[in-house]
Order: sequence, then C-alpha cells, then structure tokens
Amino acid sequence: MSILHYFEEQKSGTLPEMYKNLTREQMEARITAIKNQLGKKLFIPGHHYQKDEVIQFADVSGDSLQLAQLCAANEQAEHIVFCGVHFMAETADILTNDHQKVYLPDMRAGCSMADMANIFQTDRAWEALTEMFGDTIVPLTYVNSTAAIKAFVGRNGGATVTSSNAHAMVEWAFTQKERILFLPDQHLGRNTAYDIGIPLEQMAVWNPVRDKLEFEGKWEDVKVILWKGHCSVHENFTVKNIVDLRENDPEMRIIVHPECSREVVALADDNGSTKYIIDAIENAEPGSKWAIGTEMNLVNRLIQNHPDKQIISLNPSMCPCLTMNRIDLPHLLWSLDSIAKAKEVNIIQVDKETAKDAITALERMLARA
Ligand code: 13P
Ligand code: SF4
Repeated sequence: MSILHYFEEQKSGTLPEMYKNLTREQMEARITAIKNQLGKKLFIPGHHYQKDEVIQFADVSGDSLQLAQLCAANEQAEHIVFCGVHFMAETADILTNDHQKVYLPDMRAGCSMADMANIFQTDRAWEALTEMFGDTIVPLTYVNSTAAIKAFVGRNGGATVTSSNAHAMVEWAFTQKERILFLPDQHLGRNTAYDIGIPLEQMAVWNPVRDKLEFEGKWEDVKVILWKGHCSVHENFTVKNIVDLRENDPEMRIIVHPECSREVVALADDNGSTKYIIDAIENAEPGSKWAIGTEMNLVNRLIQNHPDKQIISLNPSMCPCLTMNRIDLPHLLWSLDSIAKAKEVNIIQVDKETAKDAITALERMLARA
C-alpha cells in the first residue's frame, strides 16, 4: 500500500488494511504494549454490551450512567478511547476537560434509537407542542440521543436521564412543570411514567415523521408526551417469548431492560438498567433460573460468569447490538496505535456552543444520580 493510500484511509475513518490481517494474539500483544506505554494517560471505558475481546482491555466497564460519571471524574487521562456507541463518546467529551480527547474506535458505532430523533424534528415538535400546551412542558432526553438534543433539553429547563435514574428524573421533572416530553425512547418513557403512577390514558405519542400528536382523549389530560422512537434490539423481545417461556418453565424468572415494550415489562418479573440486571444475577441464589431480555454480548457474559445459575436469553434467536459490535480488536488497536504515533483518528468533539447547553442537561441529571 502506498503511503498516500494509508493516510487517505486514516482520514476517511475506515480501518486501514494493515489491521485486517493480524492474528488475535498479535493484536492483543500490541494493545497491551500500548496500554503499558501510555499508562494513566490512557483511559478505556467499556459499556456492558461490548464484546469480550474488547471488554478485556477496558479499564472500567459499566452502564451508561456509570461510564458518564467515571469519565467526568477522570481528569488525568489525556486520551479516552470509548468502547461503546457514539452518543456515549459525545457525552464523555462534553463531561471532560479541554486537554482530554475522546475517541470512538469505529465511527460507524451509532445507536439506531438515538438516530430516531434529530434536532430539526425536535425543534418542530417543540414549536407545535408549546403552541398546544403553552409553557407547561419540561423536556427530558434519554442519554441515547445526540449532543444537539441534549443541548435543546438543557436550553429548555430539562435534563438527561439514563435507565438507572429515569424514575428520579421523571419525578424531578414533574416538580418543575405539569407535563413532560420524553425523547427519544417511548418505551423507557412509558415504563417509567407508568411506574410512578401516571395512567397510560394520560400519555400521548409524538410522531416525528408525521409531525403529529397521537392521542385519543382530551388534550388537557395529557401528562406525558412520548417521542415515537425505540431500540431496534430490545423491540425483539415479545409477549410471545414470555408466554412460551412461562409455559415451558414456570420457575424461570424473567428480567428485562426497560427499553422493552410496556407489555413485555409488565409481564416480566423485574426490569432495570444493564447494571441492575448484572447485580440481580450476581445476588441470585445458586441454582436459580433466569431469562434475560437484553443485548446478547451481556447475556452471554452473564452465562459464562455464573455457571452455578441457569441463564438464557428471553428470545432464543436474539443477536447482539450490531452497532455496539462494530468495536472490535482491529478497531481498538487502530485507535490506540494512532494515539501512540500522535496521528490520532476518530476523535469525537462536540462544538463548544452545543456542549455548553448539553452540559446543563447532563449536570441536572448528575446532581440527582
Ligand atoms: P444502560 O444505561 O442500561 O447501560 O443502557 C444503555 C443502552 O443503550 C441500552 O440499550
Ligand atoms: Fe442503541 Fe439499542 Fe444498541 Fe442500546 S441496544 S446502543 S439503545 S441500538
């Protein structure tokens, strides 16, 4: 390969050929060497959904709240190589100092849910909803959203939420105004609002494709406006999965992530964030039986780590989250190599204007997390 071609590849964000033909052992040895060389200057956070080949190199693993908190607390690392998806790396960039750079090993590691709300749709929705409801709405956004949407929420008196603090944040929002707009995951919004006692009849859905509020009753009754977005992984857990499982093995306990639909969460025995699920399995009795409704890399890791418990996926034909899975050993090595050679690639940088408002939304959450 010519030098010119090599630099073209580096710029375009595609993995250079030279990383495609290495053995696993070669990649692991080089990653270990660069980690040793950079020491505390390097920090690798890894989300629970990352593959084992990647998570073995993470300095910390956690759910999206824990990783945001750990990035905010780390003032020492100059290079933060985020093994997760784009919105998580953006959050890390917003919460860290100017001398710290955040990298996403593969820029294609997005989140299909975060892609379901863009800022233009959000501005249009806000205009229509505030015209309809006046100044009665607090916007909340799940962290699974772009920095621009976090900034919109920050500018308008709202906050971010994660699946581990959604209840506290929705309760807080109702101390501010009488209604909430919850972006972009309708399921987390509905499950959380229902849990704190808001009836389903008081929840409307905003359809961003048709710029339309979907609601049958009197609009004065609306308390919660749910953005019509969802996770393309968690929507694959169905009521039928639960009915079949209960029929085949009534002793199985079912625990799901709150990104699953209301019907699935209602039929499950328990629900919570990735950390909540991990803790529940860790604290369970030996010999207990569990069906888990969340991403497959995490379910497989729980199966491996708990041979004393019987664990299966709630959906027997479930796949991993494809975008989380884009981070692999070749991309991790490429990212680290580029830092070691001072020719960094795939830097995530949120512009200052957006970051200023987004941090307001994140700090409102972190103050209550
Ligand atoms: P957690 O906040 O539970 O880690 O979930 C993040 C996510 O993307 C789940 O799909
Ligand atoms: Fe996004 Fe769903 Fe993947 Fe989580 S599991 S990162 S919400 S697509």
